[in-house]
Amino acid sequence: MNEVNGLIAQRAFSDSGLTAQRSGCLAGSLYLAPMEDVTDPAFRMLCKRYGADRVYTEFVNADALVRDIASTTRKLTIHDEERPVAIQIYGREPESMADAARIVEQAKPDFIDINFGCPVKKVAGKGAGAGLLKDVPKMLEITRAVVNAVHTPVTCKTRLGWDENDLIPRENPLGLQKSYSVSGLTAERSYSANGLTGEAGHKSTFIVDLSLALQDCGIQELAIHGRTRSQMYRGEADWTLIGEVKNCPRIRIPIIGNGDVTTPERAKECFERYGVDAIMIGRATFGCPWLFAEMKGLPAPQSMAEKVAVLKEHVLAAIQWCGGDERKGIVHSRRHFAASPVFKGLADFRQTRIALLRAETTEEVFAIMDEIVEKWGQ
Ligand SMILES: Cc1cc2nc3c(=O)[nH]c(=O)nc-3n(C[C@H](O)[C@H](O)[C@H](O)COP(=O)(O)O)c2cc1C
Repeated sequence: MNEVNGLIAQRAFSDSGLTAQRSGCLAGSLYLAPMEDVTDPAFRMLCKRYGADRVYTEFVNADALVRDIASTTRKLTIHDEERPVAIQIYGREPESMADAARIVEQAKPDFIDINFGCPVKKVAGKGAGAGLLKDVPKMLEITRAVVNAVHTPVTCKTRLGWDENDLIPRENPLGLQKSYSVSGLTAERSYSANGLTGEAGHKSTFIVDLSLALQDCGIQELAIHGRTRSQMYRGEADWTLIGEVKNCPRIRIPIIGNGDVTTPERAKECFERYGVDAIMIGRATFGCPWLFAEMKGLPAPQSMAEKVAVLKEHVLAAIQWCGGDERKGIVHSRRHFAASPVFKGLADFRQTRIALLRAETTEEVFAIMDEIVEKWGQ
């Protein structure tokens, strides 16, 4: 067991004064979404401890893996305690993605996930991530190449489409040739929801057809973020199209819904209304790794003091993840302090918040946190 591992694993559910909550019953699983610079081993292990059914690494660049760049290969660090864990990769060429998948497989993740959803310019603008929503034949080639390259189950994560035009049902929304073939898989444009294969005049929705096409490539699960690429993170996630995919009779693989799930009530509603097999949660976990436990009705920290104790533990684990560099680990943790619900809505908190976000040593951070509990904790 390495150090980060040891730190997180030391505390089991029962040893930290955690109190049992009402029992919640969800129809499916809850996953920690892949997030760049956020879902490192320290954070993943905390989320796992508080009930995440699967965790994902941040996305890992395929070309950098193939070139054996140390700062990239470090992202493949996973621990048995966090399983099941998915390592996510992104890239724009089938060959390098297949090579990267083979490298990733040596780290023994439970899943290899392909990112077809990243909207940022430096990724999508270069034809990777969500950029592949504009070149579906290539996206399918990549998927096929990765599936064929490894024995590990392959999953994908994508968005509803490139822009709002993809939300409207239309003929052949993937823009495939009439007789389309991907590495030995031939399809007569058969990616339509009701099986009317490529029939002239038949209209279907981009994400439904895309899901069927990815399923045909041999992926085991598909996660869908309910936004288009052009929406980036703006507006509200649209779950109706996620539900449409899940309810398509030809979809056999589990469908994971993602986008704006922040409360136990919303998680329950998404399972019930859209029938997804799992929900992936991203931003709502910042400074709140116990959210999974709250959603599942498992023991979770209740008082401010209990929650702050978990945040402190995260700071120490983050420092260890940053090679013992105290300042780096604290800077790395700031996103969590800034967004944590623990520090939301406190009266006259502004100056303390500024101090917390400026602190550079563990001693300072912990002292401010203790002061917060003293002043605002009940
Ligand atoms: C800081 C940040 C980093 C992200 N990095 C990734 C990533 O590496 N791979 C990925 O597939 N999605 C990434 N995403 C998208 C999230 O996985 C998720 O799809 C998105 O935040 C919507 O879910 P949410 O509303 O629960 O946050 C990132 C999101 C944020 C906010």
